[in-house]
Amino acid sequence: MIGTDILLAAQLLNDNKLVAIPTETVYGLAANAFEKEAVLKIFEAKNRPHFDPLIVHTYSIEMIAHFTTSFPDKLKLLAQKFMPGPLTLLLPKNNSIPDIVTSGLPNVAVRIPNHALTLQLLKLLKFPLAAPSANPFGYVSPTTAAHVDNQLHNKIDYILDGGECNIGIESTIVGIENNEVIVYRLGGLAIEDIEAVVGKVRLQINQSSNPAAPGMLKSHYAPTKQLFIDDIDNFIAAYKDKNIGVISFQKEYSGQNIKCKTLSISGNINEAAHNLFAALRYFDGTNVACIVAEKLPNSFLGRAINDRLQRAAHKNN
Ligand code: TXA
Ligand code: MG
Repeated sequence: MIGTDILLAAQLLNDNKLVAIPTETVYGLAANAFEKEAVLKIFEAKNRPHFDPLIVHTYSIEMIAHFTTSFPDKLKLLAQKFMPGPLTLLLPKNNSIPDIVTSGLPNVAVRIPNHALTLQLLKLLKFPLAAPSANPFGYVSPTTAAHVDNQLHNKIDYILDGGECNIGIESTIVGIENNEVIVYRLGGLAIEDIEAVVGKVRLQINQSSNPAAPGMLKSHYAPTKQLFIDDIDNFIAAYKDKNIGVISFQKEYSGQNIKCKTLSISGNINEAAHNLFAALRYFDGTNVACIVAEKLPNSFLGRAINDRLQRAAHKNN
């Protein structure tokens, strides 16, 4: 069921049920983060391996102190500047967070989503919400309630409809080691904005497809159709007999065998991020044989977009 009833959503979550929640990044698949039984249902619904930990969502920086044991100064600065927002911080967890949430790791990933409906819901609850993106494991993240419903409708008790996600790509994940700020996942908060607050950061972007390291999976965000990253004109010229899906940044492509999604005609990188996942999903419902996407300028959210494209394509390129 899809709706905007936060009282119903709260009641279901109190009963250890699953509810999909809107955020400014992507939709999450939420359950009571303090209840192991509830959290297990998330892994089942997504078909997600237990070595891939979950992000815990709450509504204020004060609330974070209830389930963590310390808050390093630099991360606190980032929290004060960017929360609520597309930032996830790795902080040492206390015993209220079951090990299943963090895949046994000592740190818990924490985020305050910047979405009015979900913030209202979180304030109604006596517990934070564990929530990964609300897609089957490995598939493209959902940015509308309909995306969630298309794939998980029989596995979730309620989808809270908060409209299209403003930002459209997942949060940036940040932690700290030896007082050095480290970015583990590129996302909706640009590195440039983080560095303006805490100085130079180290990028340690998960490149491994070996699940020995929890949360570090290379292939992700992938549509069913094969995706290639290439120069679009060259690709079209080489495959002129095939139906091709094109994901371009600014330019519109047309032709008998071409279906095109242009991410931002005006060349706005935020608008491109907002449209990316819907574009990747769109082609799975069409007759195109494959998809070609071009790289975007590699700064601000362009870096996170290129990262997502690369992961979506990595089986092919
Ligand atoms: O924007 C977002 O972050 C969305 C919305 C729903 O909040 N959530 C999201 O969750 O993208 P998910 O599960 O699709 O990606 C979370 C990733 C994990 O795959 C893992 O890489 C990392 O966060 N992660 C979570 N907990 C961690 C931990 N304790 N240590 C290291 N990495 C962690
Ligand atoms: Mg995900």
